[in-house]
Amino acid sequence: MTAAVAPRATEFRFDPADHAAIAAFVYETAGILMPPGKMQLVYGRLAPRVRASGLTRFADYIALIDRDPVERTRAIDALTTNHTSFFRESHHFDHFLEHAWPALDQRLGTRGKVRIWSAACSSGEEPYSLLMAMFGKERGNGQRLSRTDLRILATDLSTEILTAAKAGRYALDTASGVPTTLRETWMTRDGDAAQVHPLVRERVAFRKLNLLEDWPMRGRFDAIFCRNVMIYFDEPTKERLQTRLAERLAPGGFLYIGHSERLSASVAPGFTCVGRTTFQKVAA
Ligand SMILES: C[S@@+](CC[C@H](N)C(=O)[O-])C[C@H]1O[C@@H](n2cnc3c(N)ncnc32)[C@H](O)[C@@H]1O
Repeated sequence: MTAAVAPRATEFRFDPADHAAIAAFVYETAGILMPPGKMQLVYGRLAPRVRASGLTRFADYIALIDRDPVERTRAIDALTTNHTSFFRESHHFDHFLEHAWPALDQRLGTRGKVRIWSAACSSGEEPYSLLMAMFGKERGNGQRLSRTDLRILATDLSTEILTAAKAGRYALDTASGVPTTLRETWMTRDGDAAQVHPLVRERVAFRKLNLLEDWPMRGRFDAIFCRNVMIYFDEPTKERLQTRLAERLAPGGFLYIGHSERLSASVAPGFTCVGRTTFQKVAA
């Protein structure tokens, strides 16, 4: 016998067939797995959209996202997990500063360019952390770097979260994750929030990008942060993504993945493991 309605989910009718339809939609669109055990989570995230759409049944909401691309985007926004924080898994930033940054900084000094990709950047804490770490504790250093060809591409699937990322405005509690000296240099207090300094913000280009679809970027990156998104994907999707990430990384470039993620067997030989969930692409 199948449970007809998710536990405590009494406002709207939501049965296993509805869940299966939504799971298929989110898998096809974003590669995200939503097994039957996530039924309660799906209900909780989409019920506000069912309500806002003036509907009373999930079946009608599924029909709506089928015909309405705007509502499809809203549904994906609601279903993605955007949890992140400043300096999350800080060992990656330590590694980058110690092992990648010296050569990249030198290259910038000789008018070279440096390109970094924060793939699945969520609300922006990841690329901003990296920039604050590179800019260091002196404002003068940031002014020097802002005259160089240093760019971070920061992408995510969720439209709503990218709007927050671009704004670069965070609750004080969130901003407290930035080490004090960096926060005092690169964030300013604005009422009950902290704003990322324009010198930092102008180095990041936030773009909407689905990791499963074609990527418009042409060049290669010196480092790619692709953390805590592959956990939502199945093995074939992870493997395809990692193969494409490897192609986009310059030889000797670094790939940082999330703490519970690993490289697929077919991709791993192209990398040397140089730290915890930290990989360097072997030179061709
Ligand atoms: C848990 S957050 C990780 C944020 C950050 N990288 C970190 O480690 O803190 C996962 C992000 O992946 C994004 N995402 C999920 N599926 C995606 C896809 N197919 N393409 C691009 N981004 C995706 C979500 O919108 C979400 O913002």
